[in-house]
Amino acid sequence: MEPFIEFRKVEKKYELGEHTFYALKDVDLEIMEGEMVVILGPSGAGKSTLLNLLGGMDSPSGGEILFNGHNIAGFNDDGLTAYRAWNVGVVFQFYNLIPTLTAYENVALMKDVRNNVKKGSIWEKESEGVEILDPVEMLDAVGLKDHLHQFPSQMSGGEQQRTSIARALAKNPRLLLCDEPTGALDTDTGQEVLKLLQRVSRERKHTVVMVTHNSSFADIADRVIRVKNGTVRSTEINEDPKDALEVSW
Ligand SMILES: Nc1ncnc2c1ncn2[C@@H]1O[C@H](COP(=O)(O)OP(=O)(O)OP(=O)(O)O)[C@@H](O)[C@H]1O
Ligand SMILES: [Mg+2]
Repeated sequence: MEPFIEFRKVEKKYELGEHTFYALKDVDLEIMEGEMVVILGPSGAGKSTLLNLLGGMDSPSGGEILFNGHNIAGFNDDGLTAYRAWNVGVVFQFYNLIPTLTAYENVALMKDVRNNVKKGSIWEKESEGVEILDPVEMLDAVGLKDHLHQFPSQMSGGEQQRTSIARALAKNPRLLLCDEPTGALDTDTGQEVLKLLQRVSRERKHTVVMVTHNSSFADIADRVIRVKNGTVRSTEINEDPKDALEVSW
């Protein structure tokens, strides 16, 4: 089977005065469709940089990033906008909900994101039938159907994170990216969020890529990629991943 996602010799560098800093260097990796992937590494390792490149939120300084065979590293801004709108859902550590919109409105916004993309992108054909999902159904799926009309400031951290997961899932994305999704939550709430992400990857067959510095999350992944100082140190395959409710931290 061909990999769904492939990084080939990817680098991301910043010119800082006289000196060049490599946030990522010589990164090769593979992810198969439907996998739940955990990217582990200490602070500053390059995890968010890697996730942002994968999500088309940033472009590499060199190398290739293949998504279903398309090299998104060569895409211009319009190309990346279409790529994100059709393929990528993102969940952030601090939820990034719009404070003046209710839970329902935050999720419903995804329809506009897709509709604003120019017609005729390659993804339209490739992702034919990938409809934006109903906001109420998505909020129900994350256990929030009684909270549709609450604003973010009126919800707990766990509820806000579940809203942001519903928002990401509403795009029906082939790729769900999560940057420290439990980082701002207590252990019990964090476990519920992990369980939800695991369920999404298993039942909806979305490919889920989560970055974290929490090594206990390695046990629930199908694939564990360890990064340090901007390079991939190892990749492991878990034949028998644990249930999210079995891990604690
Ligand atoms: N725009 C930028 N200019 C210069 N350096 C940057 C820039 N963005 C990121 N970096 C550097 O790249 C390195 C990797 O950053 P990144 O945010 O990917 O780390 P991380 O693994 O996500 O860390 P954390 O666990 O703390 O979130 C850091 O040393 C950071 O300072
Ligand atoms: Mg980070």
